[in-house]
Amino acid sequence: MPWLRPDVTPLQTAKTSCSGTEGILVVARTKSSKAWLAEHFSDEFVKRAQQDGFRSRAVYKLEEIDRRDHLLRPGMVVVDLGAAPGGWSQYVAGRVGTAGRVVALDILPMEPLAAVDTLQGDFTEKSVLDQLLEHLQGRPVDLVISDMAPNISGVGVADQARAMYLAELALDFAAQVLRPGGDLLVKVFQGSGYGELHQDMRGRFERVLVRKPRASRARSREVYLAGKGFRGGN
Ligand SMILES: C[S@@+](CC[C@H](N)C(=O)[O-])C[C@H]1O[C@@H](n2cnc3c(N)ncnc32)[C@H](O)[C@@H]1O
Repeated sequence: MPWLRPDVTPLQTAKTSCSGTEGILVVARTKSSKAWLAEHFSDEFVKRAQQDGFRSRAVYKLEEIDRRDHLLRPGMVVVDLGAAPGGWSQYVAGRVGTAGRVVALDILPMEPLAAVDTLQGDFTEKSVLDQLLEHLQGRPVDLVISDMAPNISGVGVADQARAMYLAELALDFAAQVLRPGGDLLVKVFQGSGYGELHQDMRGRFERVLVRKPRASRARSREVYLAGKGFRGGN
């Protein structure tokens, strides 16, 4: 499959963001932004992340899936796509330990983390993929995790296409770097393209699990697909 697919509009990457637990610079001018801030700071997972020293509430999504599906073990090599502000990377670094390796990539700058190699770049760009591959130096990867999500423009069809495009690229990447038997966890949004991606993953992994962790908001169409046991090949 070509890296840049002509049938999907590439991301407007400069506008991507993700709400962590720190550095929120939003000025609540409107009723809806005030409501968003109120919801954010009263959120159970935001509070927990602050208490536990994690950079994002998203960490509790990964933690729940890991507990249930046993994704992480000491000594693993893990690639974290869409890693900023770094909650997942923090969690993974703790789980793989000093014998493991974590490579984190995001289009946004990310504060350094001990025991995590951070790369900055747009994952939809071939040069960034090449940089990531070069960084791995052919070392087989045990687990690819992708929490990548584009900023929401409000145009549903376009947002869905952009989100699924990122998920497709994560799957293609996983097929290039995973060792046979390795796993992929990827964020997807139910809607157009979801069924095809799910089907594609079923062809490449022994099992594909659909997970909606408690920290994923009920109103969001976000779910995670966990591909377990990569069959090998591209
Ligand atoms: C939901 S956040 C990830 C949160 C992260 N898992 C954590 O625990 O802190 C989604 C991330 O995807 C990143 N992203 C979106 N499009 C991207 C792209 N084209 N290349 C790289 N990262 C991208 C965004 O910059 C954002 O940081």
